[in-house]
Amino acid sequence: MTLANLTKTNQIATSANNWQGLIETYRPYLPVTEATPVVTLLEGNTPLIPVPAIAQRIGKEVKVYVKYDGLNPTGSFKDRGMTMAISKAKEAGAKAVICASTGNTSAAAAAYARRAGMRAFVVIPDGYVALGKLAQALLYGAEVIAIKGNFDDAFKIVREMSENYPVTLVNSVNPYRLQGQKTAAFEIVDILGDAPDWLCIPVGNAGNITAYWMGFNEYHQNKQCVRLPKMMGFQAAGAAPFISGQPVANPETVATAIRIGNPANWEKALKAQEASQGEFNPVTDEEILDAYRLLASEEGIFCEPASAASVAGLLKVKEKVPTGATIVCVLTGNGLKDPSSAIDYSVNETYTGIEANLADVAKVMGF
Ligand code: F0G
Repeated sequence: MTLANLTKTNQIATSANNWQGLIETYRPYLPVTEATPVVTLLEGNTPLIPVPAIAQRIGKEVKVYVKYDGLNPTGSFKDRGMTMAISKAKEAGAKAVICASTGNTSAAAAAYARRAGMRAFVVIPDGYVALGKLAQALLYGAEVIAIKGNFDDAFKIVREMSENYPVTLVNSVNPYRLQGQKTAAFEIVDILGDAPDWLCIPVGNAGNITAYWMGFNEYHQNKQCVRLPKMMGFQAAGAAPFISGQPVANPETVATAIRIGNPANWEKALKAQEASQGEFNPVTDEEILDAYRLLASEEGIFCEPASAASVAGLLKVKEKVPTGATIVCVLTGNGLKDPSSAIDYSVNETYTGIEANLADVAKVMGF
């Protein structure tokens, strides 16, 4: 397939509801050959959903969309990177993979590795991985190792492990991860017809912001878009090394997915921010949770707390939004990943102890 007929092919694949996963769709842009065994769960092709209630809160004429990557097969954007990383690991003959994770990477690594017939080792910070993510890793058949430490400690261990033992590292320092993840930028341009003015994105280990920037630039070089977006990265205030300019020793936030103090892709993410004339800004846990509830209760979109950081950030810096701008906020993970947060931070409560009859239920309803 050539670059020239790529867009046409996408349209055909989409309209026939015959999506073949992101490697087949964007093959000319990816480091794969006919010899690469494609390990796919048909990830990608996630919806770009308008969010008018959020746009209205900006207080000027703007278009705001969310890229809902929580609709990937394991419920997060990590599937985009993992289809590439696992396909390439299989091509190289790997028998086992390893990652450190706040949860989503471990779920994706487990699913794709097991599908490829490999062992999956996942090292996680004990007590700081949301329930749904842990459930996934276990059921997919990963070998889960919970350490008394945070993500940064886990990452140090797996990095060294992969240098000394026959296990392939599938964290986002594996270059194939970012190659897969850049396709989210392609999908946005394919739908909007150009890049947005702003891309708002939560930042943890800083792989995804790097991947998006790479994707927009490759599409720009291939004349698929005219604009390049400002990359607006948002970190949880208690885990915001890009704001303080140095690693954070004890990162803390309710958004456990981005509870990271020393991002592995530091330099690349900084370059993306600078080259795009973007910004890094912190959002407090309270702001994250407000956006989390707002997305669910006014837009009908259930994401996990870390994902809501992109919307919380946009609302926080809304004064800087140019009138007429098109903005995309990346929703990186599905809300079902973290049911405990949904229950703990929901404003509404369940009416309990109600007698099982029409009159009592009607009374509770206010009739
Ligand atoms: N949002 C979610 C839901 C995540 O799981 C992550 C990272 C991020 C945002 C940040 O992306 O690291 O590329 O800057 N989760 C990793 C994991 C660390 O282990 O699942 P990033």
